[in-house]
Amino acid sequence: MSVHPKIYVAGHRGMVGSAIVRQLLAQGHPAERIVTRTHAELDLTDQAAVRIFFAAEKPDQVYLAAAKVGGIHANNTYPADFIYQNLMIQANIVDAAFRQGVKQLLFLGSSCIYPKLAPQPMGEDALLTGTLEPTNEPYAIAKIAGIKLCESYNRQYGPSHGVDYRSVMPTNLYGPGDNYHTENSHVIPALIRRLHEAKVNHAPSVPIWGTGDPRREFLYVDDMAAACVHVMNLGKVTYDQLTQPMLSHINVGCGHDITIRELAETIARVIGYVGNIAFDTTKPDGTPRKLMDSTRLNALGWQARVGLEVGLEKAYKDFLKNHAALH
Ligand SMILES: NC(=O)c1ccc[n+]([C@@H]2O[C@H](COP(=O)([O-])OP(=O)(O)OC[C@H]3O[C@@H](n4cnc5c(N)ncnc54)[C@H](OP(=O)(O)O)[C@@H]3O)[C@@H](O)[C@H]2O)c1
Repeated sequence: MSVHPKIYVAGHRGMVGSAIVRQLLAQGHPAERIVTRTHAELDLTDQAAVRIFFAAEKPDQVYLAAAKVGGIHANNTYPADFIYQNLMIQANIVDAAFRQGVKQLLFLGSSCIYPKLAPQPMGEDALLTGTLEPTNEPYAIAKIAGIKLCESYNRQYGPSHGVDYRSVMPTNLYGPGDNYHTENSHVIPALIRRLHEAKVNHAPSVPIWGTGDPRREFLYVDDMAAACVHVMNLGKVTYDQLTQPMLSHINVGCGHDITIRELAETIARVIGYVGNIAFDTTKPDGTPRKLMDSTRLNALGWQARVGLEVGLEKAYKDFLKNHAALH
């Protein structure tokens, strides 16, 4: 029998799932002990197919990084798809994992689980203390259900079956595999694309919505993957000391935020764009600050390693390799 656990990474072609596979390989995990299926090979909303897959593969560990993910526009246009598909994906995987005796599973959520007006920085205990941001409420409700799914299996089957299902809630992520689509991308990929285009076209100025004052937190995706592997492999005693059965999720952030202005200037420097960044103060700013409190994760022995500028350089390299020609 192999000393290496058999690991299923759900969503291995996504930004986070692919980073988790990279991380496992970098830590010496043999490729043949990593199980993956593309969406075309296994639709995770199909309960029967998921059960057959788990019965055939019998993994020892599961990273649940598959999800229907999108920006504000997609969340607003397809709320039914966002809540239904995410509920189904996580319910099918968690239950099929339990049925096949999987003891270790890590569920990936997002900082959108916290109330719109949560005190900053947002601690894990802000969960279910207020009203969610309406634009992605269906998605956030599914993610909250995912945390409660894991906790409920732990509470019911932990003592009898050794079930230990954990959840991590990352802040904004960026890096290789990001989505650079014009309409639907997050702030870092959107700025990389726009400032790159401005550089190539010698544009004297690039307009950016808002004052540039809002503060946001960003984490390089390979750091996120390293945090996932760290949390998955923590001893149960350590993990239990810093979590509670009904407040078990763990924030994953770098621990500090920067203004959108600082972010845009850093990206311009990395790209080599020397024109003007013009903040359009007639446009709305959004929430003034969004920062995770990652004290719990730090106390569990993990810190982010990749600084913003280094992470942005790697992200820009990936953009040039895979996306620049498309835009
Ligand atoms: N990116 C971020 O900034 C960020 C921040 C916080 C949290 N997260 C969390 O991290 C997780 C992964 O996000 P990501 O950015 O890696 O998303 P992503 O790049 O869109 O990857 C998601 C993966 O899941 C797969 N998938 C979706 N529906 C499926 C289905 N029904 N059956 C099988 N596979 C399916 C997708 O395959 P197809 O593309 O083929 O459908 C894709 O490979 C999510 O839970 C998300 O909430 C991400």
